[in-house]
Amino acid sequence: MATRIENKKLSKSSSAWMKEHIDDHYVQKAHKDGYRARAAYKLLEINEKTSLIKKGMTVVDLGSAPGSWSQVAGQLVGEQGILIASDILAMDTLPDVTFIQGDFREAEVFDSIMAEVGDRQVDVVLSDMAPNTAGNSAIDQPRMMYLCELAVDFALATLPEGGALIMKVFQGEGTQELRKQMQQDFSKIRSIKPGASRPRSKEMFWIAIK
Ligand SMILES: C[S@@+](CC[C@H](N)C(=O)[O-])C[C@H]1O[C@@H](n2cnc3c(N)ncnc32)[C@H](O)[C@@H]1O
Repeated sequence: MATRIENKKLSKSSSAWMKEHIDDHYVQKAHKDGYRARAAYKLLEINEKTSLIKKGMTVVDLGSAPGSWSQVAGQLVGEQGILIASDILAMDTLPDVTFIQGDFREAEVFDSIMAEVGDRQVDVVLSDMAPNTAGNSAIDQPRMMYLCELAVDFALATLPEGGALIMKVFQGEGTQELRKQMQQDFSKIRSIKPGASRPRSKEMFWIAIK
């Protein structure tokens, strides 16, 4: 119950956040539907609108922990599909998901994921990566942009023509430049703000087709 979880040690703003989180429709729905995070509904809505993830596909999920996008992608690709997930944090195992733990900013981690992909053709790259935010956009935004640039590099290295990158961005400094740059390598880019994405959040998802 929301009111019982209120902890006297929490500040007013963090207990307000906790109440909002527990009351959140998508948090309750995720709990009921067995998803590890409310983020599952963002990918479900994106895929409803784009139909990019299909049975039998190979998908790489960057920034996968705690694993709700991997759960959704796993259901969409089915038993014949291949799912490789990676995060700087540990992630509880999921059936048929190969997980690589490490910091994506490190070349060895990038290379380990590439090695796991091997000769396979990757159909879709997902990136829901986001740094731990400091609440200061002068620090958070460049960190986020760097993760996005690395996700784009990975997508360009692994996707064939027609392959897709579904990537979270924080709208702000640097996004316009990145989009312009991506327009040179991707044939189509669209933006989706799913219903499960909090309206006040700067988060947006770019769907880029190579
Ligand atoms: C919004 S969460 C992802 C939620 C996930 N898509 C899900 O549905 O469960 C963002 C993730 O990005 C990861 N992340 C942040 N910086 C990273 C980095 N440098 N390398 C790898 N993962 C990173 C975080 O650890 C976090 O798990």
